[in-house]
Amino acid sequence: MKRILILGATGSIGTSACDVVRTHPSDFRIAGLAVRSNRERAEALGREFGAPVFCGEDAAERAVEETDADLVLVSTVGLSGLAPTLAAIEKGVDVALATKEVMVAAGELVCARAEAKGVKILPVDSEHSAIFQCLQSFGGRGATALPDVGWRGRRDVSRLILTASGGPFLDGPDDLSTVTPAQALNHPRWKMGPKVTVDSSTMMNKGFEILEARWLFDVPADRIDVVVHPESIVHSLVEFTDGATLAQLSPPDMRVPIQYAFSWPDRLPAERARLDLATLSSLTFRAPDEARFPALRLVKDAARAGGTKTAVLSAADEVAVARFLAGEIRYTDIVRLVEAAVDAAPDLPCDSIENILAADAAGRKLAKEWNS
Ligand SMILES: NC(=O)c1ccc[n+]([C@@H]2O[C@H](COP(=O)([O-])OP(=O)(O)OC[C@H]3O[C@@H](n4cnc5c(N)ncnc54)[C@H](OP(=O)(O)O)[C@@H]3O)[C@@H](O)[C@H]2O)c1
Repeated sequence: MKRILILGATGSIGTSACDVVRTHPSDFRIAGLAVRSNRERAEALGREFGAPVFCGEDAAERAVEETDADLVLVSTVGLSGLAPTLAAIEKGVDVALATKEVMVAAGELVCARAEAKGVKILPVDSEHSAIFQCLQSFGGRGATALPDVGWRGRRDVSRLILTASGGPFLDGPDDLSTVTPAQALNHPRWKMGPKVTVDSSTMMNKGFEILEARWLFDVPADRIDVVVHPESIVHSLVEFTDGATLAQLSPPDMRVPIQYAFSWPDRLPAERARLDLATLSSLTFRAPDEARFPALRLVKDAARAGGTKTAVLSAADEVAVARFLAGEIRYTDIVRLVEAAVDAAPDLPCDSIENILAADAAGRKLAKEWNS
């Protein structure tokens, strides 16, 4: 019986995670539930699962300190995931990580601490879970835990290929400047929280996923490619040095990667939609259009710069998305704003929580003050 602490229990990932636990009551138990403000819903879940509930801005960190868990699911939004992730690592508890901003802002620091403590960081994002699953099936060091499952010692891996649905604006409109929040929140394949949905539409999310993969699997960013795959059936691929490429496929359902992070290294049966290749008319792939979606280039540049530039990027994006949803800036301003903040902020080494928080604060300040 694995005891799982769920941080962000009322969100899209948290709700799917509760469902996974409901389906496997003899394998998983909820050790605690943390949310920011949705106390009523959290308490209903607390009663259902007989688990303590934590509410408020520091709820996630308190929950890590005050509960006894075997695995912490971090699925809050943005940098709020960093302190509880570091607290879990410090306590020696494995982490199932959905909050990609933790790796975007502080991947170097988080991985160094996890490695020092022998803590596993299991991917929840569907693309990273796909890569993780492909690496497992190839045997070798892939059969052990992260961070060992990464690039180090894997001379047999030549490239990681992240698939992207392309979001709602893949085929138009040509002029993205008039896109409204309602249009950006209307993702064609995945039902997710608002921040990640807007990030998916700008492809900033895919850029973040390059950084997430870079740290989770210890792969240089220039060996991580993105391919647009609108059907969202192939969740990502690993190309090996002998010319073989492995992919993981399933109908789009976040409960699959969440459950894998919970059950790893085993697989548990579940009644879910199955892939029926005979009824799929086609699976299509194309190169991303970096001219229409400049976020990809921006993230790759920040990754190359290293240090705390990616923490600035993540913070500025969080503010930019909030300002867009509040009607303060245009859709196309999101990437312009983030780029201006990344250029203007000082770069520091990504080796302490203080530097990451300073970069985060600088990114937020620049993003709040930015005017088109
Ligand atoms: N949704 C997906 O399919 C998906 C897929 C891959 C990766 N992700 C990543 O997973 C993370 C969560 O995404 P989501 O779509 O589930 O977000 P969401 O639906 O907006 O839910 C966020 C959850 O986090 C809680 N929360 C926010 N700040 C908190 C804090 N300081 N302390 C404790 N709880 C806090 C919220 O509580 P309240 O309800 O009380 O505000 C809510 O339960 C994001 O980083 C996203 O990029 C999501």
